[in-house]
Amino acid sequence: MCGIVGYIGKQQAFPIIISGLKRLEYRGYDSSGVVTIDENLKVYKKKGKVSDLLEFVKDKDTKGTIGMGHTRWATHGEPNNVNAHPHTSQNGHFVIVHNGIIENYARLKKRLEARGYSFKSETDTEVLANLIEYIYLKGKISAEIAVRLALTKVIGAYGLVINCINEPDQLIAARKGSPLVIGIGEDEYFIASDATPIIEHTNSVIYLNNDNIAVIKRDQLTLKTIDDDKLIPKVQKLNLGIGEIEKNGYDHFMLKEIFEQPRSIMDTFRGRIAADLSEIRLGGLLDIMPKLIKAKRIIIIGCGTSWHAGLVGEYLFEDISRIPVEVEYASEFRYRNPVIYEDDVVIAISQSGETADTLAAISLAKEAKALVLGICNVVGSSIPRETDAGVYTHAGPEIGVASTKAFTAQVTVLTMMAILLGKERGTITNEEYLNLIKELTYIPEKIKTTLKHDDYYKHIASLYKNATNALYLGRGYFFPVALEGALKLKEISYIHAEGYPAAEMKHGPIALIDENMPVFVIATKDKSYDKIVSNIQEIKARNGKVIAIVTEGDTNIKSMANHVLEVPNAHPVVTALLTVIPFQLLSYHIAVMRNCNVDQPRNLAKSVTVE
Ligand code: G6P
Repeated sequence: MCGIVGYIGKQQAFPIIISGLKRLEYRGYDSSGVVTIDENLKVYKKKGKVSDLLEFVKDKDTKGTIGMGHTRWATHGEPNNVNAHPHTSQNGHFVIVHNGIIENYARLKKRLEARGYSFKSETDTEVLANLIEYIYLKGKISAEIAVRLALTKVIGAYGLVINCINEPDQLIAARKGSPLVIGIGEDEYFIASDATPIIEHTNSVIYLNNDNIAVIKRDQLTLKTIDDDKLIPKVQKLNLGIGEIEKNGYDHFMLKEIFEQPRSIMDTFRGRIAADLSEIRLGGLLDIMPKLIKAKRIIIIGCGTSWHAGLVGEYLFEDISRIPVEVEYASEFRYRNPVIYEDDVVIAISQSGETADTLAAISLAKEAKALVLGICNVVGSSIPRETDAGVYTHAGPEIGVASTKAFTAQVTVLTMMAILLGKERGTITNEEYLNLIKELTYIPEKIKTTLKHDDYYKHIASLYKNATNALYLGRGYFFPVALEGALKLKEISYIHAEGYPAAEMKHGPIALIDENMPVFVIATKDKSYDKIVSNIQEIKARNGKVIAIVTEGDTNIKSMANHVLEVPNAHPVVTALLTVIPFQLLSYHIAVMRNCNVDQPRNLAKSVTVE
């Protein structure tokens, strides 16, 4: 949800900023802009992608060893050149880039208008630029103090980089709610919304906390709170290789991330499942384990794909650990006055660790004194910092906007947690415990086998690429997989798709079925196999096209379905991790065949840091 980049040092800022913006483009791609600073501010902004900006700036003066850039996911004001960032204040003293939302911007704007300010854009960010300038000019104070005072008047979320043209050799960065990382080079600093633009320059970073303001000169960084208390910056080492944020020969990040899953799931196990498969140890949960074991109820919160992973978690915890579970959209949970008990355990699931609704739901759960755990992918992000304990998924950076490897990593963590809790609570025998661990560790190899069918998935994709609607059905563990399959298809190929529990088909969706409707059914061997077979027959009786995901060697369904996609036989508890793979690849190929922008689907952003 908007990406920002800043640079101050000895090198030319422009190329560093542009390559940083390209790395952050997954956060928003409605418009982008850049400013470089020497004696003048050189601001260039363009609707569209970073490549459009680059084309526009081609013959322009971009000189300067200080600068900042922005790639936007529009909140206030339509995506156009004027609303694009950076925004300059009315009298040109300040230029800023912003990620987040200033909630009280309308009131602030009115007050500034009464004091003679007028506005070029419809953005909340321009209001902030003018507020800072107004305070600066009125108080005849330094830029740093003006920024600090202005931020005390702001309600909302921000990651900000600011320059004052009268103090040109410094950048000011501030954070509340929206993430900011500062990379430390030799007499140079890099600022960005996440570490991906920084890693090619340095691996020493400082993560800003909420209400931190950093004043950054080429050779010095001063960190303070918004109350002007000095802080000692905590320098951390990034554990991220450049290869992890490149496409490495794949056409799209999404494809690379799908194919990475055998490895990323192993990374999720690493150090957590003993080499002899005799135990699961989740270091991040050790301290809170006694409370977790006694939990009367688990509430799982998340958004999008993370919510789907949470639904798989519901089946896992109830099935294996016999703990009642509720799964909630974070956005609904936070606003519906939920009943939360002190002995509840709330698990927040988030790839980015920055989703605004999930963060707000966490605050609510903390107020109610529940134990709050996080399952996140991005190390050092906000959610792991806000939660009492948690488990990182360690799937590596996920750059494609449609989540794939983060989902399987989240389900892997939930599976490990459920198995561990089952053992600790005595709801599974030691033999079952050891067997489930084994079954889970077989999954990466089985995903490799599934991925080998990619050419066939491509062929199926070519048959259904022109569908206008699609239905996804599954039961039990596979109902969330059906939801996830439908989400993957709609978000990247713009085909309308719905996921349903297979039995619910009779209560509505069956009316939609005709010869034009592909129905994707998960029909692997488990206790609902016979029921799902009946569902397939019901679809066929109405001339629907059935594409069934089946267990290898299943000839029964092969004789009924239009097409079968085989996955290796596995324990039902872990089979969700396999059945999602064909859906990811089918959606990918259909989107490519429809000429859709797979990695950056329209209107979406990877990290939703606004409500
Ligand atoms: C956006 C992304 C999804 C993601 C969801 C939740 O909608 O496009 O891929 O599942 O946000 O994000 P989170 O980072 O909290 O998992």
